[in-house]
Amino acid sequence: MKPLICLGIESTAHTFGIGIMDDTGKVYANAKDSYTTESGGIIPAKAADHHVEACGKVISAALEKAGLKISDIDLVSFSQAPGLGHTLRIGAFAARALAVNHEKPLIGVNHCIAHLTIGELMTGASDPVLLYASGANTQVIAYEGGKYRIFGETLDIGVGNFLDSVAREMGLGFPGGPKIYELSLKASKFIELPYVVKGMDVSFGGLFTNLKQKIDSKEYSNEDLAYSMQETAFAMLLEVSERAMAHCGKKELLLGGGVACNKRLQEMAKKMCSDRNAKCFVPANEFLVDNGAMIAWQGILQHKAGQRMDVSEAVIDPYQRTDEVKVDWR
Ligand code: ATP
Ligand code: FE2
Repeated sequence: MKPLICLGIESTAHTFGIGIMDDTGKVYANAKDSYTTESGGIIPAKAADHHVEACGKVISAALEKAGLKISDIDLVSFSQAPGLGHTLRIGAFAARALAVNHEKPLIGVNHCIAHLTIGELMTGASDPVLLYASGANTQVIAYEGGKYRIFGETLDIGVGNFLDSVAREMGLGFPGGPKIYELSLKASKFIELPYVVKGMDVSFGGLFTNLKQKIDSKEYSNEDLAYSMQETAFAMLLEVSERAMAHCGKKELLLGGGVACNKRLQEMAKKMCSDRNAKCFVPANEFLVDNGAMIAWQGILQHKAGQRMDVSEAVIDPYQRTDEVKVDWR
């Protein structure tokens, strides 16, 4: 039987991604183009302009890599929620245009849940707690009682934005996550920093202010600060993840999001899991960062469960919560 081929469109933030996958889990292409800034954060309208410009190029690159024509595509999926309204709108528009012009079925998906399901596919995890650690998002998510629920999250900024902001204070440029990691390898000592876990949630605002003061004081080396901030922030994330695993009785931890590319976070996560006889799963970097393949795969899951979306329903939902999503594919 011919496999079902889906083209997925990711556009929740600075990445415009096109993934092409089939229902056996084969990845034909996972192309992307990201909006970057030299200084300051993401400007939603500028990111949207970037996506408009990148859209045609990235679709063509993905089809070419896959060796397919648009007529070979059976389904179009897009990230419908959550994210920046400006950028989500571009992805939804592209999806509607492809679906209408080429008479393809269309399906909208939740970006956070897609991080979880692509991780399951790529690693073989079957019922994990997901630590989703990216620029804008920091959440601990698991499937429980028929829904994907958020067990803990950041009360202010995402851990990636926190790392990037400190890197900017140190004059390291963007994205700062990888640079902070490189610096941390040259540290000579640990510096005590505020450790903020409130119930099941974490907060990075106070930690950032404290680090900013320490950087300005010039009393500490950036290497020691980079190392200490990683140890502190990642321990906070893993404390909450571990508690969610204990609460749900789950024996698997899955990492997702760009910050999960960090080797020290991976090492600490593996240690926590081995200490409690659990397994730790880490997909390849390509599937950790925002990508179109995860949107394609989530589209396939929902389509195969019988979900259908009319073009008139293909509207974005920037503030959708993970537990609002009806789950009928597992
Ligand atoms: P989302 O919209 O899901 O919040 P995002 O647009 O912030 O995602 P991601 O690619 O998931 O994008 O994550 C980006 C973050 O990951 C940045 O903060 C960046 O510094 C960090 N990052 C990326 N690669 C690495 C790496 N190799 N090591 C450490 N941090 C990394
Ligand atoms: Fe993401």
